[in-house]
Amino acid sequence: MADTTKAGEPTDATPNVSGVQVVEAESEEQAVAALDEPVERGEPILQVRNLVKHFPLTQGILIKRQVGAVKAVDGISFDLYQGETLGIVGESGCGKSTVAKLLMNLERATAGEIFYKGQDITKLSGRALKAVRRNIQMIFQDPYTSLNPRMTVGDIIGEPFDIHPEVAPKGDRRRRVQELLDVVGLNPEYINRYPHQFSGGQRQRIGIARGLALNPEVIICDEPVSALDVSVQAQVINLMERLQDEFNLSYIFIAHDLSIVRHISDRVGVMYLGRMAEIGTDEQIYEHPTHPYTQALLSAVPVPDPDAREHRERIILTGDVPSPANPPSGCRFRTRCWKAQDKCAEETPLLAIPERFKSSDSPAAHESACHFAEEKDVVHAA
Ligand SMILES: Nc1ncnc2c1ncn2[C@@H]1O[C@H](COP(=O)(O)OP(=O)(O)O)[C@@H](O)[C@H]1O
Ligand code: SF4
Ligand SMILES: [Mg+2]
Repeated sequence: MADTTKAGEPTDATPNVSGVQVVEAESEEQAVAALDEPVERGEPILQVRNLVKHFPLTQGILIKRQVGAVKAVDGISFDLYQGETLGIVGESGCGKSTVAKLLMNLERATAGEIFYKGQDITKLSGRALKAVRRNIQMIFQDPYTSLNPRMTVGDIIGEPFDIHPEVAPKGDRRRRVQELLDVVGLNPEYINRYPHQFSGGQRQRIGIARGLALNPEVIICDEPVSALDVSVQAQVINLMERLQDEFNLSYIFIAHDLSIVRHISDRVGVMYLGRMAEIGTDEQIYEHPTHPYTQALLSAVPVPDPDAREHRERIILTGDVPSPANPPSGCRFRTRCWKAQDKCAEETPLLAIPERFKSSDSPAAHESACHFAEEKDVVHAA
C-alpha cells in the first residue's frame, strides 16, 4: 500500500501550501530592508510550507551506509500571525523541538520552506540571515541546563550583543542588561550573580531576558515551563503574556500537554509523529475537535469540576507511538485509532477543512487531517 502523497511534495488540496506573498529581493540590501519592515497585527509573519526533517540512520564503522531515516518532521505547514500565540502540542518524540530548531535555523531542513516576512529563510545567507537570526529568538525548555553555570547573569543576558553590537554598543550594555532584568521581574542588582543562585522560575526569567535582548519579533518557546513546578508555571506564563503585549511579540509556544497551552494560545496545532493532525483556534480545538488524536488528548486533560468529570468519556489510547523511522502507511495515527478503516492505511489524510464541514460556519470547520473527521462529545478542560 503506497502513500498517495510524498513528504515535501506540494499538494493542491492542502490549503496551507499557497497563500505566501513571496518577496524576491534582488540584493542583500533589499532583503535586509524587507526584513526590517513591520508586519501589521494579524498578518502572517512566519509561514511554514511542507517542512521536512529526516535524520539519516547509518550503519558501519569505517564506511557509513545510510540504512534509513528518522522522519522527525514530515511535511508540516502552518502560519504564525503577527501578535498571536500559536500553541504546538504533541507527545514526546513527535518532532516539536525539531520544528523549533528548523525555525531557528539550528537544523537544516531536508525539504520545504520557512518564509519570514515573505522570504525563505532556508535560502538566506550573509547579512539577511543575520537579520532573521536577530528577529527570531528562542526560549529553551530546561532553565537548569540551558544557562552556562560559569557565566554571570549579566554575561548570559548580554552575550547576544557580542554578535549584534548594533543593538547595544559596548558602553551601554550593563544598563541594557539591568533594564532587561527589571523587565522580567528580577532585581537589576543580581547582574553579577551566577545561575545556581537562582530558583528554576528565576532561571527561566533569565532565559526570557536573554531571548528579549535583541528586540526580536518572534519568540519560539520550546516547553518553557515544563521543567517548572506547577505554581511557578502560571507566573512565568503570565510574565510571557505581559511581555507579548509590551513588546508586540508573536509566540510559538510548544508543549506536550494541551492544558498548559490553552491559557496562552490564540490557536493550537496538534502534532503526531512528524505531522500536523489538526489546527484551529483555541475554541475550535478545545470545544470542537474533529481529529481522534486531539479528542483522545483532550479526554485525558484533568477536569476540576467533579460533575463534568463524571460525564466525560475517557478515551484510552492503546499501543505505543510507532517509531518515526518506520511510520505507519497512510494515516500515522491509524495503529492507535479506534475509528481506523482500510482507507486509513491506503491514503494519507491531508490537513484540510473536512468536506462535510466546508460550507458550514460551525467551529468544526477547521483543518483536520482525518478521513473521518467528526465532532465527538468529549468534556474539555475549563
Ligand atoms: N539529531 C538527531 N538525530 C537523530 N534523531 C533525532 C535527532 N533529533 C531528534 N531526533 C529524533 O526525532 C524525533 C523527534 O524528536 P524531537 O523533535 O526532539 O521531539 P519532541 O520535541 O516532540 O519530543 C525523535 O524520534 C528523536 O529521537
Ligand atoms: S484517518 Fe483514519 S486512522 Fe487516521 S485519525 Fe482519521 S479515522 Fe483515525
Ligand atoms: Mg522537545
